[in-house]
Amino acid sequence: MGIRRVVAISGSHSVSSKTVALVDAVLRELTSADIECEHVAVRELNPVALLSADFGDESLTSFLRMVGHAHGLIIATPIYKASFTGLLKAALDILPQFAFAGKVVMPLGTGGSLAHVLALDYGLRPVIQSMGARHIVQSHFVVEGDFSKDDQRINVDDPRWSGLRHACTNFLHSLTDDGRAAMLGHPRPAA
Ligand SMILES: Cc1cc2nc3c(=O)[nH]c(=O)nc-3n(C[C@H](O)[C@H](O)[C@H](O)COP(=O)(O)O)c2cc1C
Repeated sequence: MGIRRVVAISGSHSVSSKTVALVDAVLRELTSADIECEHVAVRELNPVALLSADFGDESLTSFLRMVGHAHGLIIATPIYKASFTGLLKAALDILPQFAFAGKVVMPLGTGGSLAHVLALDYGLRPVIQSMGARHIVQSHFVVEGDFSKDDQRINVDDPRWSGLRHACTNFLHSLTDDGRAAMLGHPRPAA
């Protein structure tokens, strides 16, 4: 199997984002398994270019290039108003219709309570599916109360994060180069 590349896209407004802390924990785990990882926080893209789909903007072209070259994607969001964020949707909307064709996707979320855990599967998953993903692995949701008060850093080796560790392992296995698996999902559009 050649080099595998994963791009995480996170859609929080916050500078000290719990969702970003969750993404960072997963990316550390993937990096230790020799996966090349990059993280795009949508709030750091040029906002005017994002909202006007200005593809002349370097932050947008680089974002599109990264997604195009990725084998796997992590799509991460806090829950705002019972759903994934508008910021994340704005980023998904500027990607091509079948931007996820041939790719494996892991949805991640954080929220104030478990009441909205299914927003990942009822709200975000259909959008990812419509973008042609070959496989969307089990999503993982973390309640904000599970983060420690003074340090948001997650250690997946801690037994209380064993569910997240399992989700990472699942995602890693799904990043296989298996030719039959590559036939799943929407056919890859010609490059
Ligand atoms: C504008 C806004 C709306 C929110 N709406 C919800 C909600 O509907 N359901 C929920 O469980 N949490 C809600 N929350 C709580 C966030 O999902 C939670 O604090 C999350 O961990 C924040 O992640 P972040 O630090 O990455 O932004 C909301 C937070 C904000 C700021």
